[in-house]
Amino acid sequence: MSEFPVHPVPESFKGAHITADNYAAMYRESIEDPATFWGEMATRFLHWHQPWNEVVSYDFPKGEAAWFSGGKLNVSVNCIDRHLPEKAQQPAIIWEGDDPTDSRIITYAELKDAVCRLANVLKSRGIQRGDRVCIYMPMIPEAAFAMLACTRIGAIHSVVFGGFSPEALKDRILDSSCSVVITADEGLRGGKRVALKRNVDKALDACPDVHSCIVVARTGAEVDWHDTRDVDYSQASAAADSDCEAEVMDAEDPLFILYTSGSTGKPKGVLHTTGGYLLHAASSFHYVFDYRDGEVFWCTADVGWVTGHSYIVYGPLCNGATTMIFEGVPTYPDPGRFWQVIDKHQVNIFYTAPTALRALHAVGDEPVKRTSRSSLRLLGSVGEPINPEAWEWYYRVVGESRCPIVDTWWQTETGGMMITPFPGATPLKPGSASFPFFGVDLALLNEEGAEIEGAGAGYLVIRASWPGQIRTVYGDHQRLIDTYFSTYPGYYFTGDGATRDEDGYYWITGRVDDVLNVSGHRMGTAEVESALVLHDKIAEAAVVGFPHDIKGQGIYCYVTPMQGVTPDDALKAELIALCVEEIGPIAKPDIIQWAPGLPKTRSGKIMRRILRKIAENELDSLGDTSTLADPEVVESLIAERQSH
Ligand code: WT7
Repeated sequence: MSEFPVHPVPESFKGAHITADNYAAMYRESIEDPATFWGEMATRFLHWHQPWNEVVSYDFPKGEAAWFSGGKLNVSVNCIDRHLPEKAQQPAIIWEGDDPTDSRIITYAELKDAVCRLANVLKSRGIQRGDRVCIYMPMIPEAAFAMLACTRIGAIHSVVFGGFSPEALKDRILDSSCSVVITADEGLRGGKRVALKRNVDKALDACPDVHSCIVVARTGAEVDWHDTRDVDYSQASAAADSDCEAEVMDAEDPLFILYTSGSTGKPKGVLHTTGGYLLHAASSFHYVFDYRDGEVFWCTADVGWVTGHSYIVYGPLCNGATTMIFEGVPTYPDPGRFWQVIDKHQVNIFYTAPTALRALHAVGDEPVKRTSRSSLRLLGSVGEPINPEAWEWYYRVVGESRCPIVDTWWQTETGGMMITPFPGATPLKPGSASFPFFGVDLALLNEEGAEIEGAGAGYLVIRASWPGQIRTVYGDHQRLIDTYFSTYPGYYFTGDGATRDEDGYYWITGRVDDVLNVSGHRMGTAEVESALVLHDKIAEAAVVGFPHDIKGQGIYCYVTPMQGVTPDDALKAELIALCVEEIGPIAKPDIIQWAPGLPKTRSGKIMRRILRKIAENELDSLGDTSTLADPEVVESLIAERQSH
């Protein structure tokens, strides 16, 4: 699969939680007897107020799954209170600000205090169990406080990435009918301010049911203030009681909603529940990162994505770990920032995305080598396929050939890691996510939907429920069934393609649907297309991905202007602005190509396969174009492509 050599398990990991001696037997039990396996895990990793009646029951065709039914627990108790007897003074969160001179340490005792106070503020605004709370925050400790405060009282949080536009924020608030928004005056990233409160104000013009907006003063900027609606976070928290009794939740009560993009329509509100999700996040954190008490763990994701939910907040805190929250960006004030922060806070385990590694690799080794990184023990990668070149650089230069790399494949819908090496058990093949996590029953299907045995390439599907499984698409259960459980009946369809080599290693090849992965951000081509056609000079648009050195995938837009419109650069600029306005800066098109027509079948369906090939400049493999209504369209698109 790759010419790069296999890296054996290092001596230093021979005593890991999972080794070659116990992995196979544990994995086998997790598949053959999930009830026993996960029952033991649930006792080991979680504190329960009341035990469950049944470990698991599920029905894929109906999109139903229940884990630990009848069991009662509270997530904030698991992430905070139960660690207090031993770890009250241990750092729970180390916060590193955008400015390198700015940092904060929050102990478990302080975390308890902050979370309870905010929970009481939410209660004082009428929030109860089951209500939805939108969190639109920069990467500051209060983002984690807000999530945990919701869990304290059984409210369902919906974190919206702070890079989304007011329009995108509004859609998400309305879709899950949130009644409160928690935000900050401004965010700070790479020295630039992000007007979060102003974005919220704009969004809330169209959200009459939001009665409260809790605002953290991050930069102290002047912001518009709506007296009856807006609440000053620090004043209200200071006035609130520092104790808040934890709401006892059912294992299957909703924990959070997180919006993610699909191949069609608007983003889906992925709903996760309490017991199964927390167990998946906590157990995978412990085993995959081989976490040891007292270690400092740093995941560079944003809490606006699932990686931040599971591996900045819930997984680490449920294990009583010390987790970092980093407000900044990898290249500010200089491209050595990650490595400097690792030295500053003596980070032991570092988990980041391939896009960041590629960008930093491009700058050269010098900024890395200026730092020590001697605290590092383990490295991780997540979010998109990691090319073997970036993998090797990460391994040799960042980890000095001392630290294993866990390349973890999973999705918003899976809640936690699904395919991953175990650093003490898995010889590493650069670029392969390797083997399934406990309880994950994988298969590859061919075009006909039949399972492929042994080595081969196909569609990646999952045969049985796992604890962190998506429970529904908020407000639209049919969409869950249609998206994940109908393509191949009896399986969960991931949307990814993969190959399995002779040694059983999995290699994820990327999405096989119309979902893009741009710098690790997931985006539906349909979302970008809908933004483009909002322009009154645009008749039609088709968006595809193309290979991009740093971003992994770039956004390539074929745009057909209305008849009589002469397209020019000014119109291009307006279209780019429209995408940013409708979705956010992450949706900025890389290439806009004017297309007098789009290749369509006689029934009017756009042939994306052809558009993808043209965007990738793979003109020799366009395939069969004879079914097109107007084959000449392709010639003109190719001619136009040459000019980009
Ligand atoms: C999609 C899910 C995993 C949490 C962050 C992204 C791609 C994710 C890997 C990996 C190859 C990966 C897949 C997946 N992906 N991790 N290690 N190797 N591809 O979550 O936004 O829900 O995106 O990201 O295509 O389907 P997400």
